[in-house]
Amino acid sequence: MTSKTDTADQALTLGDRVQADRVHTSLYTDPAIFETEMDKIFSSTWVWVAHTSEIPEAGSFKNTYIGRQPVIVVRDRKQKAHVLLNRCRHRAATVCEGKKGKTNSFVCPYHGWSYSLDGALRGVPHPESYADQLEKGELGLVSLRVEEYAGMLFATFNKDVEPLVDYLGPAKKWMDLFMKQGGGFPVKVAGEHRFRFPGNWKIQLENTTDAYHFPLVHKSFLSSVDKQTEEMLDFVTGTGYVEDLGNGHSVMVMIPALVDLEANLDAPIPERFAALADALRAEGNPEDEVRRIVRAVGGSGFNLNIFPNIACSMAFFRVLQPISVTETEIHHAVITMDGGPQAANQARLRMHEHFQGPMGFGTPDDSEAWERVQKGSGSGKDLWIMLNRGLAGEKETADGRASDVSAETGMRAAYQQWKKLMTA
Ligand code: FES
Ligand SMILES: [Fe+2]
Repeated sequence: MTSKTDTADQALTLGDRVQADRVHTSLYTDPAIFETEMDKIFSSTWVWVAHTSEIPEAGSFKNTYIGRQPVIVVRDRKQKAHVLLNRCRHRAATVCEGKKGKTNSFVCPYHGWSYSLDGALRGVPHPESYADQLEKGELGLVSLRVEEYAGMLFATFNKDVEPLVDYLGPAKKWMDLFMKQGGGFPVKVAGEHRFRFPGNWKIQLENTTDAYHFPLVHKSFLSSVDKQTEEMLDFVTGTGYVEDLGNGHSVMVMIPALVDLEANLDAPIPERFAALADALRAEGNPEDEVRRIVRAVGGSGFNLNIFPNIACSMAFFRVLQPISVTETEIHHAVITMDGGPQAANQARLRMHEHFQGPMGFGTPDDSEAWERVQKGSGSGKDLWIMLNRGLAGEKETADGRASDVSAETGMRAAYQQWKKLMTA
């Protein structure tokens, strides 16, 4: 029997399901809403696909997804990046498999149609049978719009969407700051690991700017670090903040002193990096370089969330890929210094593994929490997800709106963008 509340909730429009301070539980559980998201969000706005270091040379490619659609990110012979739908124009087979690699062309394994690196159809076996009826110029791989900022490649199916730089807006400044983790070297994706969790993609999206959970969920991580680091990470009552940067993007500043990694380099080197600093000195690096590299190794003191699918945090990018309404794949890509000292890059890898790794002290605890959110959402479907923390203290800023570090401002920002796109 349908309860009175159920009936009332079924009548809610998509727009009604996102309020200023809460969202409806159906956003985590309704398969029809998920289908609409794939169309109105993932096929309609800019979606992050790769870092330029993942396709370093002509012919380098990476396979990924935009929503559920497989795409190839590839660099052509003139060094131009393309994002191509991974679907043969004959009878739809994927033309490229494998996560990453290098190739001269894409040859469909089914009947052998071949495409050049920019997606153009180059040749088909036994063309005489088509009796000149094949419009080769119109049967290239579908090519998406692709634009880059700060080494980050984004693509979209929407030919009419605003330029990427306008979409990113104030988030650009934070991307520039984040890339200072190169410590004077270009940033390089050194590898990634993937996992799936049984939960909706937005549960993960919310987590990147959620300081509130940190001391509780990450108790075991906090007990595994030195005293100085533990104190540094005690930021929930600190002077940090979270800011809505527009278009669904947000930043959570946890450690204000580590916003600009090149500022105040005379500050004492933390005890945990003393051995690394000594190793870099022993390699003959001048003192100012040692300080810059050590600072960069420690990572940025903020998390940046770019709607809808990429987070920049500590030493890594976290990319989310929706699989179904109740399943999400996460890619954790670790970033290192391209050409930087081996000791520094090793330290970054160890730091990344310590928190995000499959055997790490951070992400396994996070994913347990996300799974529980999904499990709980299966009950009480007329209830709402509360996102009103820090709302009263929110203030206008030059770039948007901000509140204290543990406010749910970042989540409110993401859901307002969700509402805008879903009701467009
Ligand atoms: S499906 Fe690709 S050549 Fe036939
Ligand atoms: Fe967490």
